[in-house]
Amino acid sequence: MIKLDLSGTKTFLQPGEADRGACEAALRTLLGRTGAGSDFTGWLDLPEDYDKEEFARIEKAAQKIRSDSRALVVIGIGGSYLGARAVIELLKSPNYNALKKDTPDVYFAGNGISADAVSELIGLIGDRDFSVNVISKSGTTTEPAIAFRIFKALLEKKYGPEGARGRIYATTDKARGALKTLASQEGYECFVVPDDVGGRYSVLTAVGLLPIACAGIDISALMQGAAEERRTLLREGADSAAAQYAMSRQAFYRQGKYVEVLAAYEPAFRFMAEWWKQLYGESEGKDGVGIFPASVDLTPDLHSMGQYIQDGRRMLQETVVFFDRAKASLQVPSDGANLDGLNYLAGRELSYINEKAMEATKAAHISGGVPVTTIHLDSVCEAEVGALIYFFEFACGVSGYMSGVNPFNQPGVEAYKKNMFHLLGKPGY
Ligand code: PA5
Repeated sequence: MIKLDLSGTKTFLQPGEADRGACEAALRTLLGRTGAGSDFTGWLDLPEDYDKEEFARIEKAAQKIRSDSRALVVIGIGGSYLGARAVIELLKSPNYNALKKDTPDVYFAGNGISADAVSELIGLIGDRDFSVNVISKSGTTTEPAIAFRIFKALLEKKYGPEGARGRIYATTDKARGALKTLASQEGYECFVVPDDVGGRYSVLTAVGLLPIACAGIDISALMQGAAEERRTLLREGADSAAAQYAMSRQAFYRQGKYVEVLAAYEPAFRFMAEWWKQLYGESEGKDGVGIFPASVDLTPDLHSMGQYIQDGRRMLQETVVFFDRAKASLQVPSDGANLDGLNYLAGRELSYINEKAMEATKAAHISGGVPVTTIHLDSVCEAEVGALIYFFEFACGVSGYMSGVNPFNQPGVEAYKKNMFHLLGKPGY
């Protein structure tokens, strides 16, 4: 499903510069589960080897939420947030909540601490029926815990303690953590973040699947797409698209191209890029090394960041994600007066023009000294998105091991927490 086009990188790499030996070693480490953080590689088998009973419960819970709620508040941060939002926006729309539909609006909370944002969300829900899916693997993260207190209190006020219990779904560790304890005491329906799957690799667990299913997306097709990509990557090893991608981005890093810009030509891709940034940033940025993941939305950002990419400091490599077939067919209308001089495009599909913009931009950036890797997918559908998720996760594991880090921990995120707890007077800090 995923076609990797490395033609835009060739002039930047000497033969043998992409380190196949290191890639093969990283693959052995990842698949043999012998490297640092190997306890967190459960996501490798997830598309085939998942809890089928829980999967059925997710679909049932989603059906109940769709039938008794006009809004779902999904509370979580980082890996407990970005995957669901990314998939819903890409497969449905960034304007999903504004669409006419028979599925509930999906709002995200607990991914920050802004009083204004929470209060606006409370206003948006208004007097509509709603449910809450609170997601935290550790069960102790401050941002979602604060939001959960607020929305739990709102639910209890509206439906009473018993009614609220029937509208709260907790996705957390199977045995540990404050959220698990609370959920067990209150009797919330619980879903599990598996022990061996870290937050940013968890979109294909209940963490992502429950909100995604609530939005009316076919989660079986999403899993099947991921499973198909998994089989391909395992079969092809170092020749696979994911391994080749890992190899080339690491080769460019060694050349001093420390920033990778992910570019897409679909506005609906924006949160997939946010998910990708978290995946790669938290996995690789440690021990004083790592490619800095950035993203642009094209063509809009050609009129802002385009200048820097074309002409600024030469520390960039670019990866384009392109969907070859648009869902919609829309042509440029003809105009008798042709005052805007656009009649040369009359009758042309917008998707054709978008593709030419991509090709033109790619050539321009290459000529400006930026190597461009292109990832082609056929169209935006569940199976392709499932495949893309698995592709990026797999490549991230390989790339992380190639750069010598543990791609499955995130020790750096503790520093701000300690300072914040100290300033807020949390006991023990
Ligand atoms: O990838 C990760 O592990 C992190 O981004 C976590 O997902 C994030 O910190 C939220 O953690 P938790 O689910 O424990 O609340």
